[in-house]
Amino acid sequence: MKFFADTAEIDAIRELAATGLLDGVTTNPSLIHKSGRDFMEVTKEICGLTDGPVSAEVVALDHESMMREAEVLRKIADNVCIKVPLTIDGLKTCKALTGDGTMVNVTLCFSANQALLAAKAGATFISPFVGRHDDNGFDGMDLIRDIRLIYDNYAFETEILVASVRHAGHVLESARIGADVATMPPGVILSLANHVLTDKGIEGFLADWEKTGQSIV
Ligand code: E4P
Repeated sequence: MKFFADTAEIDAIRELAATGLLDGVTTNPSLIHKSGRDFMEVTKEICGLTDGPVSAEVVALDHESMMREAEVLRKIADNVCIKVPLTIDGLKTCKALTGDGTMVNVTLCFSANQALLAAKAGATFISPFVGRHDDNGFDGMDLIRDIRLIYDNYAFETEILVASVRHAGHVLESARIGADVATMPPGVILSLANHVLTDKGIEGFLADWEKTGQSIV
């Protein structure tokens, strides 16, 4: 499963890229706002930190305007992935862009039928929002299970990019289901390495090593 960082914070992306665990980045207008950076500038900088896809979201609502915005965004770098909302205009834009060889991430997906439409529109990625789904009284992971089943039924190549990930449990369940990608806040990616018994084990080994009086280098 690929790990994308769900952030526009350059330092955090740089730190993750250095671990070798980063496969791409997703941004959205709220994350750009949070970064306080210029959209074009920060997107270009992020594209230079990873070879993987970097999602940059259009803000227009009609197809023609989305195409105009996508035209600007896709010139930023070869690894830009245009993010469009799951609306009929977004799907039309998705079809046009992917037909042209541009990567497209269809975002704000909250139902399996929406995901089916995105696959039919040739989306590179579909982004079901599990955290927001949970917040509204549904089970976000059920949505991922349904989409996996439907995509496998028809051998759709659209990758399931689990979004709105809030904790390690979402990541584990996504991996069990066979989702292709999870995009997470950097803190969630780093937290996957944590285990109290790992910490305790290191502590014990180091205490015993100290007693040997030896050194490796
Ligand atoms: C990523 O592509 C999404 O925009 C993001 O995961 C949404 O996360 P949130 O629900 O925590 O805002």
